[in-house]
Formats: sequence, C-alpha cells, structure tokens
Amino acid sequence: MPQSAAERIEQLRTLINRHNYLYYVLDRPEIEDAEYDRLYRELVKLEEAHPELITSDSPTQRVGDQPLREFQTVQHPVRMYSLDNIFDEGELVAWEKRIERILGTETIEYVAELKIDGLAVSLIYENGHFVRGATRGNGVMGEDITKNLKTIRSIPLKIPVNGSQVAVPKRLEVRGEVFMPKEAFIRLNEERALRGEPEFANPRNAGAGSVRQLDPRVTASRRLDAIFYGATVLEEDLAQPVRLKTHWETLEYLATLGFKINPGREYCKGLDEVMRFVRYWDSERRNLDFATDGAVIKVNSIAAQNELGYTAKSPRWAAAYKYTPEVQETRVLEIEFSVGRTGVITPVAIMEPVFISGSTVQRATLHNFEELAKKDVRVGDTVRVQKAAEIIPEVIEVVLEKRPPSADKSVEPPTSCPVCQGEVRQLPGEVALRCMNRHSCPAQVLKRLEHWVSKGAMDIDGVGPALLEQLVNKGLVESPADLYRLTVADFLSLERMAQKSAENAYNAIQSSKTRPLFRLINALGIRHVGQETAILLASTFGHLDKLVEAPLETLTNLEGIGAKVAESIVTFFADPGNQQLVADLKALGLQLEETSEGRPAASSNLFEGKTFVLTGTLPTLSRQEASDLIRAHGGKISGSVSKKTDFVLVGEEPGSKYVKAQQLGVKILGESDLLAMISEAEQ
Ligand code: IVH
Repeated sequence: MPQSAAERIEQLRTLINRHNYLYYVLDRPEIEDAEYDRLYRELVKLEEAHPELITSDSPTQRVGDQPLREFQTVQHPVRMYSLDNIFDEGELVAWEKRIERILGTETIEYVAELKIDGLAVSLIYENGHFVRGATRGNGVMGEDITKNLKTIRSIPLKIPVNGSQVAVPKRLEVRGEVFMPKEAFIRLNEERALRGEPEFANPRNAGAGSVRQLDPRVTASRRLDAIFYGATVLEEDLAQPVRLKTHWETLEYLATLGFKINPGREYCKGLDEVMRFVRYWDSERRNLDFATDGAVIKVNSIAAQNELGYTAKSPRWAAAYKYTPEVQETRVLEIEFSVGRTGVITPVAIMEPVFISGSTVQRATLHNFEELAKKDVRVGDTVRVQKAAEIIPEVIEVVLEKRPPSADKSVEPPTSCPVCQGEVRQLPGEVALRCMNRHSCPAQVLKRLEHWVSKGAMDIDGVGPALLEQLVNKGLVESPADLYRLTVADFLSLERMAQKSAENAYNAIQSSKTRPLFRLINALGIRHVGQETAILLASTFGHLDKLVEAPLETLTNLEGIGAKVAESIVTFFADPGNQQLVADLKALGLQLEETSEGRPAASSNLFEGKTFVLTGTLPTLSRQEASDLIRAHGGKISGSVSKKTDFVLVGEEPGSKYVKAQQLGVKILGESDLLAMISEAEQ
C-alpha cells in the first residue's frame, strides 16, 4: 500500500529530528548536508501540499516566526533561584561544613559542572512536546521567549528525540542555559563592525540580546546553543513514573531525552574530587567553545537536596565556585583616537605589552568617551586589564596609587577630528562622536578604501592597506573611483614598486570592474548594509541605478530590510558626494548590472514574464547564482511575495515569505524543481 502523506511527513520529521540531534547535540553527523537538505525539502514540500498537517513542533517550524510586539510575562511553575558564590577553596570547605551539619553526615557525594555564562531558561514539555520557554526574569516571573527558543537547533521540539524508549512525564520542566558560542560571537561582532553597528561586549550580552529579540528571525540568524542541567516532573505519567534520585541521574536522563548536557561535568565522591575538578577546568575551560565563569557544585542526592532546602535567594545544596579572571597590571603609553570607516572616533588604550589568558595584549578599546570619562584613564596610568569572557581585552580600572604626577589631567574628547581636524559631532541618539568630514578625512578615506578592496567587497587581490596608504599619502587616490583612474606609471611612482608589481596591481583593479553587483553594493560601505543585505538588494534591484532611485517605502517593504537599514540606504544615495561616486564608477566602466558571471546569458525564455521570489538557503546554488539562472531564462526576481508572484524558490530556513506564499497559494519550488524545469526545457 502506498504510504500516505501523513505517514511520510511523520517519518521525515523523525528522521530530520534524529539528524538534527546527531549534528547539533552530539556533533556527530551521520549523513551529508546535501542528504539532510533533501529530506528537509521533501518535508517542506509535503507540508506545503498539506498545510493542515503542519504542527508547531515540525522541524520546519524553527525558522523564526513573525515578530512580536512585546513578550508575555509568565509565571514559573517552580521558582528559579540563583546561586551563592564561593571565591576560594577555604570558602568551599566552610560551605561543606554547613551541609554536613544540617545533614548530620560527613559522606556527601557531589556533582561538579561548569557554570555556563549565558542566560538561564526554563522549558516546559507537555506529553513530550515543547510548549513554552521562558527567561528567568526575577525568578518568579519570566518572559515567554518560546518562538525564539524554537530557532535553537539543539533544543528538542519533541522528546525523546532519538526514538529511544525512555519514559516522559506528562508535564516536564527542563532548565538550562542559552549561550552564544565564542566563535559565533566573534563572527557576529565582525559582521556588526562591517555594518558600522556597535559590537557586543561579550558572548553573554550577545546571547542574551539575541534570545530577547522580538523578531525571532533575528534570533534564528544568531547561531545560539543551549546546555541543560535541571529537570522537574510537574505531572507524572502514572503508567510510567519518572523518579530521579540523584542529580547525576537527572543529567543522564536529560541526555537520553536528547538534550545537550554539560561537557564539563563530574561525579565527585567528596570535596577533594570537587577541588580537582575546579582546578583542572580553571585553565582547560579556555579551550571550550563557550564562556564559563566558574563551576557549580551540587549535592548529588535529591533527598539530601530537599532536606537542605533554600535560603531566600538560593539553594543550600548548590553553590557557584567563581573563577577569578586573570588580571594583569600594565602601563598606558598612549590613548589613541581611532577614526573608523563611518567616522566614529573610538578611544583606544595603547599599553605596554602584557600576557593575559593565553595571549599578549597591548591595545584595549575604551569603547567611547563616556566610558573613558567614567574610568578616567590617563596616559602614564597603571591600569588593571583582563579579558572579558576570556576574549576581549578590557581596562577594568586605574590603579590610582600608582598614578604619576605627570598624569594630572583627564583625557578630553576631541573637539575636532584627530586626523583631519574636521568637525566632530555627536549625532542624536548616539553615544559616539563622529568626524563629519566623510569625503575627505584621510582616516575615513583609507578605511573606506580598505573596505572597498576587501574579500567580501570588490576582492582586489594584492592591493592591501600599505599600498592604499601610500596612494592616499601621495594624493593619488581619494575616492574608490580614483583607484580605477590609476595608471601603471602611477604605481611606478611609489617607493619600492617594480614594473611587475605595478602591472599586477593595475590589472587587479581593472579586472574588478566586472564584479557581481552585490560586491559593489557591499563595497559602497552604506551603514548597516553588509554582505547579506547587499546580496538581497542586488537580486531585488538587478541594477545599481534602480537601488539609487528606490524610494524609502519600497526598501522598507522588502523582507529582511528594517526601517533603519532602509533609511540608511536612502540617506546614503541622497548625499551629493555619493551620487558623484556612483556617476564616476559608471563613467569609468564599472558594471552596475547584475549579470550571470560564469554562466551563459539568456539561454532561454522559459520563465518569460514570470516573477520569482527567493527565500532561505538553497542547498547548492547561492542566491546570486539562482537569480542569475532565473534571469538567464527570462524570469524576474522580486523581493516580496504578492498575488503577482509566480514562484517562490524555497531553501533551508525560509523566512516569512514562505508562509505568505502558502497563504496566497503561490507555487513553491525547491532548488531541484528549478533545476529540473530548466534541464527539461534545455533538452
Ligand atoms: S544549577 C538553583 N548549573 O547560574 C539554581 N546553574 O548564578 C541552580 N548556570 O541562574 C542552577 N551553568 O542559569 C546550574 N551548570 C549549571 C549552570 C548554572 C550556569 C546559571 C544558572 C543560574 C545561575 C546562578
């Protein structure tokens, strides 16, 4: 008998959940990404054909729902306490003494776990289905962040994940910590810096900020993870009672259900073993992909935990052993005012090199002038420095006793640009000071040129910061357009430049004229427009002129473009200097149109008069390639779904365009459908 759609959907969900688990929880994938994508697409298609079969815990529902206006406040079924801190081994011994007194025994078993520096969450599962997730809030009431938590792939939407036979209570509360892995944090900050957006101070803030987004699609883009350490049965399944007797058993139970548990955990027979754990991880934790600020020591027996109970704020059966971040003293040699690509002036402390938490540090950003005034760091001061979350060098404070008499004045914010002496202003709603001399401040000019040639932008190989600096200092280049006016002779006029290198640099610049449109848009350095947005704009408008003319309303209506970004685009092109740049680029022969780089142009009229909308990540084609392909066959690309849309091309993690397409009954295609249509037409 042929399988029904409902059966196949169920089967696909089980398979996808299992592979999700292998990939995101165990980090041990068993199938190729392409195979996973195939299963995922099959499910998306079936659900599209049978919308009545879509359930909220289908793996397709992780993509990020519609934005919320505000979070609902919810009450926790069991209060979420915090932990008392312990700062050294002496305090740990004292803590144990109190426990021994209350329990009347000296043989106590513990579990030690790493303390994850993230955001505490409580998840509720009803009959195995994830129904609600909340922040800790004040411990009694938290915020409902269910939709955001669903986007975190390691959080199971249905338990047990792996088809295991383990019993699941009717209602179960699970607790853990959501965090942003260090690598994701570093990448996010790089992307934000590129867009001229403020960077997050540490992974904790980045994680908390991401999980408390009103728009779940933003959360979905942030690569969060979660580790769990607690389970409370709220309602038993009398037929299959779950009785957890120890904390260690709880952790193992969570693991069998499919939750990620702490990689740093140990069952400890006594305090000596606890201390060994604490000492071991104090240095080893630097190699982990998440930030930890200590270890949590818990009494293993749940009966003993109940006997110990709680103080007003925290359990008596657990404590946090806080690691002291490595702090070093060093001297401030200089406070540099660094001018960024968008003119923001940042004070940076330049210090005598000092080795902290695994690397040498000699620069630390002081973020902005408010922060500088608060810390009152002066040249010649001795400062205490640490790495925030083991990553970012940070001046904690000045050691006032060591302040030399020469450091008699606070550092004043600049009244003019330190590089070009141009006007400095604080824009409304911003903390930052900015040099307003956008077009000719050498610092901004140089940073803009560096951005222009960079990998994600025009990707001009062999033209690096040092060469650009020479060109700017010689007065040969001011705007990116000037790069294209340079002759081989110009390069030869620079110091230590041989004929061959001059020709190479010249050729590299000239051959970048035909870069795809998204690179050009990214290269322009519009505030808040990074590579992803540039790709979207290029595929939507197809020509730079169209983007230049786009009214605010059109931009705001594009999915993935918020009001702030839209405004920044319009402001950018309203600036006469930028208009001149676009005109110059055009006159110099740069390609302003989206073309099918590397693909034959206009190969058929298969999609003549048809409009496509793209959403999500396709398994093999980039957005650019798919758009090129559609255009090459006569089709048009649009940014938003309407009744006029003919096809929506859906990839993994599609956005709300997918939902809208379903609502409007627009035909949905996967990459393979598109390729099949084309290859049929080509035969
Ligand atoms: S057990 C009664 N285990 O630390 C609280 N907490 O300062 C029992 N945290 O809000 C918490 N890692 O979010 C526990 N392995 C771990 C933890 C952990 C991080 C957080 C937790 C709590 C905070 C308390």
